[in-house]
Amino acid sequence: MLTTRPRGINDILPGDVEGWQALEAHIRHLFSLYHYEEIRTPIFEHTELFLRSVGETSDIVEKEMYSFEDKGLRHITLRPEGTAGVVRAYIENKLFAGPAPQKLYYIGPMFRYDQPQAGRYRQFHQFGCEVLGSDAPVVDAEVITFAVDLFSRLGLQDLKVSLNTVGCPDCRPAYEKALVDYFAGHEEDLCDTCKDRLHRNPLRILDCKEEGCKALAAQAPTTLDYACDHCKDHFAAVRGYLDEVGIAYELDSTLVRGLDYYTQTAFEVIMTQKSGAQNAICGGGRYNKLVYNCGGQDTPGVGFAAGMERLLLILESQGLAIGQRRTPAVYLAPMDAEASKMAFALAKALRAKDIAVEMDSMGKSLKAQMKNADRLQVAYTVLIGENERLGGFATVRQMATGEQTEIDLDKLVTYLEKGIKHVATKKNT
Ligand code: HAM
Repeated sequence: MLTTRPRGINDILPGDVEGWQALEAHIRHLFSLYHYEEIRTPIFEHTELFLRSVGETSDIVEKEMYSFEDKGLRHITLRPEGTAGVVRAYIENKLFAGPAPQKLYYIGPMFRYDQPQAGRYRQFHQFGCEVLGSDAPVVDAEVITFAVDLFSRLGLQDLKVSLNTVGCPDCRPAYEKALVDYFAGHEEDLCDTCKDRLHRNPLRILDCKEEGCKALAAQAPTTLDYACDHCKDHFAAVRGYLDEVGIAYELDSTLVRGLDYYTQTAFEVIMTQKSGAQNAICGGGRYNKLVYNCGGQDTPGVGFAAGMERLLLILESQGLAIGQRRTPAVYLAPMDAEASKMAFALAKALRAKDIAVEMDSMGKSLKAQMKNADRLQVAYTVLIGENERLGGFATVRQMATGEQTEIDLDKLVTYLEKGIKHVATKKNT
């Protein structure tokens, strides 16, 4: 137990972490192009926040939350998603007093007691955004466009945007009644979970993965049949903006999403080519009642979140992996304890010039040190043995050519600095 991690969580090790860093840089860059600003909310919140937002009848709240009482007997939950915390922070920090809409993004770990498998973990990472304070359809379209833009720039091609509207508090009750009437007529064919959902949360039946329920859902009344004029107009306008920029989408009347806060637009981006991981990489939608339900002023919102583990797995499986392991430019190979001190000072001087340096700390033989320098793919290795030490110079080996030069110690930093700039320029041309 001491040396194994709990099920469903991962270490991100050197060699993998570079992919994460590159993805994070890509995400931050694109969010800044769309003028979103980063928000960092805490990893845990009061449990009540998720009951109110994600919804008491959602799978997340019913089965998947990591909840506990802290030493002050407060009910605390590790965040299962990011939207609720952003909404709480928006209200608590009065972000509504700033320019509208507030366009916020986040990157960070989330926690769900899910069934672990490839692409599904108990601690996983999402990046996502929330736009608060605008109910304009162009914002829904911008959020969807952003997601597609981000995935496309990574080289992903087999993307499908599924789109639906889930109505609003004006038209949803009539739709829910129609659904209850329809499914009640087929109750014996529903799975046990959906029999229970029938009166508690009938919309979720549309999302059930059981074959019997799926077949019934395909014939069920659709939200668009019951949408009020306002929701219909909003949906048409969102589609108009997407058409304008050539973002393809498929209408899917069974797309209701697993969280209860959505109103009007709901969408998902899925990979059409199965990659061994989960194929839903991103989901989101509008939530015009969420700020109000969490204790704020009536404020519309829309956003999405995407799973970073899933995205990285898909990129790798398609040969599109990003991020490279960084290597030092210079390896210092001291041959004895005195030389080690000189190398230590030299490392400090080189790093002061922003040159990345590694030096031997294991007292290895020359052969072993050269092997290490090769493995690290450095541009230069600097040898300091007894001869060099006594003569006040170092032997500098240019790794690409194998050429060795003796350089006076007082000229060494300048020599390496020039050489490395030269290597870097050559690499860039
Ligand atoms: P969600 O659909 O629950 O939505 O999660 C969004 C994405 O997080 C999923 O598409 C998936 O890629 C990833 N994800 C979810 N669960 C796991 C897991 N156990 N392991 C790995 N990845 C996972 C939300 O969370 C909403 N807050 C999205 C949103 C933002 N809606 C409006 N604004």
